[in-house]
Amino acid sequence: MSYIEVNYPEEKPEFYRMLKEQLRIYTCGEPDMTAALANFSSVLAQAFDRVNWVGFYIVSGGELVLGPFQGRPAVCRIGYGRGVCGTAWKRGEAIVVDEVECFEGHIACDCNTHSELVIPIKSPEGGVWGVLDMDSVVPAYFTDADRDGLTDAVGMIEERLNVTA
Ligand code: SME
Repeated sequence: MSYIEVNYPEEKPEFYRMLKEQLRIYTCGEPDMTAALANFSSVLAQAFDRVNWVGFYIVSGGELVLGPFQGRPAVCRIGYGRGVCGTAWKRGEAIVVDEVECFEGHIACDCNTHSELVIPIKSPEGGVWGVLDMDSVVPAYFTDADRDGLTDAVGMIEERLNVTA
C-alpha cells in the first residue's frame, strides 16, 4: 500500500468527512488494534499540519500506557487524574486546553506544545479504554468543531472495541 497525499479542505464538515474516509482506508480490515492505531495516528499527523504530537494512551494496570503515536518521545505512563490525559480519563470527557502552561498538572512532553486536545475512548463496558491525545504548536489551535469531529472519528475505534468485545 502506498500513501496518496490528500488535500484536506479548510471547511470543517468537509475536512472531517474526508478525514474519516482516510481513517477507514488505512485502518479498515486490519484486525490488529496496534496496527490500526498506528495508522490512525499517522493519518491524523498527515491531516493537521500544526500538530506536533498525536497518539494514544491505553488503560492498562490502572494507568495510561503509551500506545502508537507520531511525534517526539513521550512519557510512557500517566496516572489516573494526572496531567490532561489522566484528567480526561477521570472525567470521562474530552478536554481542550488553549495554553498548556495554564493547565495545572500538565505533563510536558514537547516544549513546543502550546495547546492540547484529549478525547477519551469508551470501552464497551462503559468505562474509558484509552485516550487520543493531540498537541499543537499553536495556542488555542483546537476548536469545538475539532473536539466534535475527532470525538466522532474516535467512535470508529469504539466500534472496533464493540465488535471484539
Ligand atoms: N501533555 C499530556 C502528556 C502526554 S504528551 O502531551 C504526549 C498530559 O498532560 O497528560
